[in-house]
Formats: sequence, structure tokens, C-alpha cells
Amino acid sequence: MLTCQKHLFSLPDEVSYLNCSYMSPLPAPVEMAGYQAIARKTMPYEILVPDFFEPVSRLKSLFAKLINASNPERIAIVPSVSYGISSVVKNVQIRTGQNVVVVDEIFPSNYYPWRRLTMENGAEIKVVKRPEILEGRGRAWNERLLETIDHQTVAVAVPNVHWADGTWFDLAAVRKRANEVGALLIVDGTQSVGAMPFDVAAIQPDALVCGAYKWLLGPYSMGMAYYGERFDNGVPIEESWMNRLGSEHFENLTNYEHAYKPAAHRYNMGENSQFIAVPMLSTALELILEWGVENIQDYCKNLSAPYVERLIGLGFQIEEQAYRGSHLFGLRLPMTVNLESVKKATLQHGVYVSYRAGAMRISPHLYNEGKDFERLLEAVEGLV
Ligand SMILES: Cc1ncc(COP(=O)(O)O)c(C=O)c1O
Repeated sequence: MLTCQKHLFSLPDEVSYLNCSYMSPLPAPVEMAGYQAIARKTMPYEILVPDFFEPVSRLKSLFAKLINASNPERIAIVPSVSYGISSVVKNVQIRTGQNVVVVDEIFPSNYYPWRRLTMENGAEIKVVKRPEILEGRGRAWNERLLETIDHQTVAVAVPNVHWADGTWFDLAAVRKRANEVGALLIVDGTQSVGAMPFDVAAIQPDALVCGAYKWLLGPYSMGMAYYGERFDNGVPIEESWMNRLGSEHFENLTNYEHAYKPAAHRYNMGENSQFIAVPMLSTALELILEWGVENIQDYCKNLSAPYVERLIGLGFQIEEQAYRGSHLFGLRLPMTVNLESVKKATLQHGVYVSYRAGAMRISPHLYNEGKDFERLLEAVEGLV
């Protein structure tokens, strides 16, 4: 069983950071990898041609391992989730009468690209509304999602857990239903991959896109994406020379090459060598793999469970355990409690959380300990 890893982070003792779904702190080894990478640029003569490609390949292998994808060439480096999703959308054909299914209040990076595609082609976005019930809401939302997918559905774009309140979506069931109607399954894993197990071999998404600066414990302006076979012959949103066959031969680059490197290479962002971000993210993924994603999820579950019970005792409402993440969950405030006073009290106690979809969003990680939840309780107890 994992123990608290706070010693690897430089969070001050008076800060209770329960907000990884906003942005993770950098683990010390990741911070160091960043400094070392910055220093290298002071000696550009030491940055050689293999340095453009080999660290990226290593990073792809680490991410492939994290999501259990057998072929690291299916992984692409993206600068953001919106970019990774836009590469998908550019390669989806849709026509009048057809639809794309998304869940209510899906993160905008996974909405606007689909909105443009559907609008420009006379198609429809079907938004699966969050049920207006508190008891059994996650289960009902999942049922609605499956019911909404029909024979006109071209793609289902969903997260594994909802970014605003941690509601869990049963991706295996969605895959099954999507297969029945021949729809694509496109997953935004930003708020789950790294803290909740994700198995590409089992779920078989057509694409999975993850920002790096939250649960992958990496830097900003960086993300990892997996593209399945259905995108093998697609058109990328930019034409990086690095993605062409033989791009390692710098003396030969203007003998223009028309073939891309295999699988998902064509979807790599330009300048994907990212000399600072790549070693940082590789170091972060090594740490996560060493800890084990399942262990991270269990740690968050065991840590939060007794405090969640106490919060429920105070009148807070939370999704049932089976339909929410343990690393990310929303607490709806008791009717009598004013949101602004909660915001103020938590900050006064040094507790950092977010407020999304009308709920307090709590997202712990291995640097958290009981003390952090004690502080949260102290902050809200006086308000109920
Ligand atoms: C589910 C989800 N996807 C994506 C992002 C970030 O998107 P982008 O990389 O396009 O800025 C966030 C940020 O909060 C998120 O919660």
C-alpha cells in the first residue's frame, strides 16, 4: 500500500492542496528534470539529432505503458486537448441527420471542435443532460447516455470521469453501444488517466486525449494522445516535417518526402521534441508507473473515505462511490450553506479546492494526508 508522498513535493505545510484537477504541483524530480533541460539549451552544440527524436519515443513508450497500448507509435504529442480533439474532428465525416453525442457540461475543448463540425454539415450535437435527481444520479446519467446513442450517431465524445463533479462514465458499456451503431468513441482522459486505471486494450477507444498538467503531473502546454486504426490514414491539422519518413536525416529534408511515419505520428504537433517539457513529463510518468495508478486511486479512496462520511453527516451530498472518482468528486452544499462563505472559509484555512457545476470539487493526490481533510472539515463545520 502506498504511503503519503508529500516529501516529493514542495507544498508548504500550511497549504492543503485538494485541487489536482485544476493543476498538479510538480514532483521534485520533475522540477529537476525541467531545470536540467533548461540548462542544456545554454550549450546547443550538445543537443544532437537523436535528441530531437529519442526522448519523444521514450515518452510515448511510457504513456503507452500507462494506458496499456501495445504500440507506442499510436501515441502523439499534442500541445493541448483542444488540439488533440481537433485532429480527430478533422477526420470525421458527418452529414445532415447524423449526430455526435456528448455529456452535459463537457469540457469546452471537447465541445467546440464538434460544434463546428456538426454546424458546418447540418448535423446535430446531442447533449446528454445530467439528471435532476440526487440519489442514483450517476447511474441514471449513464443510462441516459446509452439511450441517446442511436443509428445516426457518428461519434460519442466522453470523459472517463466528468471534470466538474467526478461522475464516472462506464466506457466499456459506451464502447459496446457505440460498436452496435458503428460510432467512434473519443475519450478525454485529462481528468482520469494517471490517477484512475485506463486500459486501451479493454476499452478500445478510437482516440484518447490527455492534458499533461493535471493527473500526469507534468508541465503545461503539453499533452498525450492515442489514435486508433480508424485515424491511420487521416489528415493532420498541421504538416510538421518531423512527422515525415526519414526526418532524422537533416541534410536531406528538402528532398521532400510525401509519406508520414507510421500510425499516429502524423498527429504529433510541430516541434514536438519539446526539449524541456518532454523530459519533465517522462520523469512524471516514470513516477506514476512506479507508484501504480491503481494504488493512487486506492490511496485517494482510503484517505478521503472517513472525511466524506463526516461531510455527508454535515449535510453535504455526494455521488455514490461506484459512480464517481475517488481522486475527483463534487460535494453539493447543504441548502442552508452559502457558497461564498464556503469559498472564504476554505481559503482562510489554507484549503484549496475548486467550485464547479454548483458543487465543491475536491481532488486529492499522494501529497495529501488526513490533516488536509481535517482542515477542510474545520473550515465548513462552522458554517452548517
Ligand atoms: C476534462 C478536461 N479536458 C481538457 C482540459 C484542458 O484543455 P486544453 O488542453 O484544451 O486547454 C481540462 C482543463 O481543465 C479538462 O478538465
